[in-house]
Amino acid sequence: MGLEIIHSGQICGASVRGLDLSAQLDADVVAQLRILWLEHQVLSFPEQDLDDDQLERFTQYFGPFGDDPYINPIPDRTHIAAIRRVANEQAPLFAENWHTDWSFQERPPAGTCLYGITIPPHGGNTLFANQYAALDAMPETLRSRLEGAEAIHSARGGYAPDGAYGEADQQTDRSMDIISSEQALATQLHPVIRTHDETGRRGLFGCVGYVIGIEGMDGGEANELLAEWYHWQTRDEFVYSHAWEPDMLVMWDNRSLLHRATGGYDGHDRLLHRTTIGAYS
Ligand SMILES: [Fe+2]
Repeated sequence: MGLEIIHSGQICGASVRGLDLSAQLDADVVAQLRILWLEHQVLSFPEQDLDDDQLERFTQYFGPFGDDPYINPIPDRTHIAAIRRVANEQAPLFAENWHTDWSFQERPPAGTCLYGITIPPHGGNTLFANQYAALDAMPETLRSRLEGAEAIHSARGGYAPDGAYGEADQQTDRSMDIISSEQALATQLHPVIRTHDETGRRGLFGCVGYVIGIEGMDGGEANELLAEWYHWQTRDEFVYSHAWEPDMLVMWDNRSLLHRATGGYDGHDRLLHRTTIGAYS
């Protein structure tokens, strides 16, 4: 049976049927999936019955595991984190701000895999913003200010002891196993406009959230530019809204997308298992 590829009809994203991911995939199929992933940026695989071993094997078709700080893995695993929210949890939603995963690392992960186990009947879409499209359509007035700029990335706003998931958050009823650390104060530079290491396409990389400044620019001027950049790169026309189903595996390209969580499922449990695809080159 051949692959069936159904485009989302939105700015990116495609659904793939015709594969059983619980079985070992041939190298030519993996190569085909890699091409589809790079083209569509988000691939979803509905109706997959996967255990944790099979999720890990799938992840490793596409690279080494990434280095996952700040979220403890699930018991007896090193590379799987639980994205969990229980019915009536009061803590602020996890990952509701636009970001790309771990962009504060020296070599940020190429991609992320997320497998839906318990999925509420409504709400909880994941939003993806296509950062190739955002750059392609960017007005020259803004683009000329971002060309050559280096963004200062840091996890401090989220995972430092005084960050959004820091010590105060530990007092909430959050069901995810998050660790805050002084290490989150570290900073890392990345170009705002970056060439994708596999596709060679240029796109925007990162956004406020993990970006705390622009190298060599004073705070006030940088904040103004960061705000303008952010408002452009997250415009609705660049966004794909992904609806989940139980037993659906999704993989996305962190190098060319921003993403964020949404709520709307109060009163329902939600559980997904996440793995990280490490840097490609
Ligand atoms: Fe994320």
